[in-house]
Amino acid sequence: MKFTFNRSFVGFLAVCILSLAACNNAGKKTSGTSLMTDSTTATLPPAKGFEQIIDGKQTHYYILKNKNGLQAAFTDYGAHILGLLTPDKNGRLKDVIIGFDSIGDYKKTMSAYYGATIGRYGNRIAKGHFVLDGRRYDLFINNKPNTLHGGKKGFNDVVWDTKQVTDSTITFTYLSKDMEEGYPGNLQCQVTYELTPDNALKISYEATTDKNTVVNMTNHSYFNLNGIGNGTILNHVVQFKAANYTPIDPTSIPTGQIAPVAGTPFDFTKPATIGSRIDEKNEQLKNGGGYDHNFVLDPHDINTPVATITGDKSGIEMQIFTAEPGLQFYSGNFMNGKTTMHGGATDEYRTGFAVETQHYPDSPNKPQFPSTELKPGQVYKTVTIYKFSAK
Ligand code: GLA
Repeated sequence: MKFTFNRSFVGFLAVCILSLAACNNAGKKTSGTSLMTDSTTATLPPAKGFEQIIDGKQTHYYILKNKNGLQAAFTDYGAHILGLLTPDKNGRLKDVIIGFDSIGDYKKTMSAYYGATIGRYGNRIAKGHFVLDGRRYDLFINNKPNTLHGGKKGFNDVVWDTKQVTDSTITFTYLSKDMEEGYPGNLQCQVTYELTPDNALKISYEATTDKNTVVNMTNHSYFNLNGIGNGTILNHVVQFKAANYTPIDPTSIPTGQIAPVAGTPFDFTKPATIGSRIDEKNEQLKNGGGYDHNFVLDPHDINTPVATITGDKSGIEMQIFTAEPGLQFYSGNFMNGKTTMHGGATDEYRTGFAVETQHYPDSPNKPQFPSTELKPGQVYKTVTIYKFSAK
């Protein structure tokens, strides 16, 4: 992999007034939000459930905002995104990222990785081991028979340090120690969230190591662009700039093949709803229980969107820009309705989707895939942007 990088409203009046009102809270630890204009306007999860002691460390809650009224909440616990408010086609704020009201709920739903920062290695490593420089490394098998999203206690379940916070940006850091979760090298990691003036959530990752290792960081937010609690995502319209994807075996490990999407339910090169083909008889859909696959993004740079997704009811459109070569599209197939989300609805089956920008799953065991190795002296740097608009 090259580390030079590749990895490398209009103010609706109500929103503006709200933004001004929320101004005092921006970028600060705060005791919660009250952004209601009327009963249909969304709010962010409150601060209360995120100020706790976890692993002997105090956790915190933060709100960021931009000048147009885009607002999002975060916690240093797992560097989670807790919610994001953006205006719909009528100028009403919708919370488009699934969140919960307490760290306890995030612990309870840990295997779903709602809103979490994922590392050291996002997605699966087959049978929980890989060989690097001739030495075998064994990882915790937390998704039998494989390792998923960092292992037993991934980056989603540790308390990060807050390095810097402004009204619209926050930087969290974490030192993943040598052999933590079985990975070699002290990995000094950093994730920065920014709400940009053009209504985007920009996520920038950085990491350095003191021994050769593998890294693949991502964010595992679940989106519902109609707003959290507004039903399934099956009528969302999706377009991916991806002529190929990586088919999986029944344990969700890529077979190693790069297969064309043409003529399959994985063809989102033209806009299609998530639900239009999800129940077709297809071995790959069966293996994933729906969509849970890595899309091989066509050659791109950070200035061109690789994905566009629109909420059918809200008119909210999200464009994705990334330096990463892949995108895991997951249609919420394991959501089980057991936990109450922020706002009161439960996390029912397929009421959210994830679009995790990444290097391909199991790359450490697949020399034909773009490399995820990081060496001392190199800087892992990668950026992903989720940009919002409404029409
Ligand atoms: C990723 C995986 C899915 C699932 C979710 C969390 O997207 O690919 O199989 O494990 O995380 O539930």
